[in-house]
Amino acid sequence: MAERKPLIAGNWKLFKTGAEAVETSKKLASLVGQINTVDMMIAPPYTALSMVAPVLQNTNIGLSAQNMHWAKSGAYTGEISSEMLVSAGCQYVILGHSERRQYFHETDDDINRKIHAAIDAGLKPVFCVGETEDERNLNKTFSVLDKQIEIGLKGANFEKAMRIVIAYEPVWAIGTGKTATDDQAQEVHEYLRKRIGELFNSEVASTMRILYGGSVKPNNIKGLMAMPDIDGALVGGASLDADQFSAIIKYQ
Ligand code: PGA
Repeated sequence: MAERKPLIAGNWKLFKTGAEAVETSKKLASLVGQINTVDMMIAPPYTALSMVAPVLQNTNIGLSAQNMHWAKSGAYTGEISSEMLVSAGCQYVILGHSERRQYFHETDDDINRKIHAAIDAGLKPVFCVGETEDERNLNKTFSVLDKQIEIGLKGANFEKAMRIVIAYEPVWAIGTGKTATDDQAQEVHEYLRKRIGELFNSEVASTMRILYGGSVKPNNIKGLMAMPDIDGALVGGASLDADQFSAIIKYQ
């Protein structure tokens, strides 16, 4: 089986001004900046990216955006392109977060175009998928995920697939304090890895990192990370505080 290096990612959502983002990232850099047993990244809001980039420069913490548009340039008022993110210092971009899907009506096809554009620009997409509470209660979890990954990854070849990170984030666990149990998360991660193997091949399946997201905290990270198919975490609320996020990064 391939050795997958864990990735612990922080999604700051609509929080922190530039100055606040710099302050938190400086603290984080001093607490965990030189750790190399796991990969790390943070996703501040767009306006803070180029301010945070120099703070992370000599650390092992990567920089991510939370979204982007698929076009390189054009008449798309209010949007940001992959090239703009690269020039601001990003290596990653979170795509298809459930809040983008739910509140901004992003479709699987939109996300697919963004994934291609991100990889073409040299970014690593963190592609989010997950079912709602109703879908889980109706036993539709696997069919919802099938559709999300089939459309989201459409047209990706082996080289592209090898650059993608998946984040499984059950919508009912995001910001609710209701984490999936270790076994519930493992069941879905195992399923996703099997489907990735069917869509691509066993090398992609065994190499691709699949993160768990949804109310990850210092007190539940260890159990999640002990599961064989969980390769890291996408952390929202607990990533806003450098001490808490560092404790998650140092789960081992
Ligand atoms: P949460 O958010 O950790 O606050 O639940 C996770 C996410 O939305 O990525």
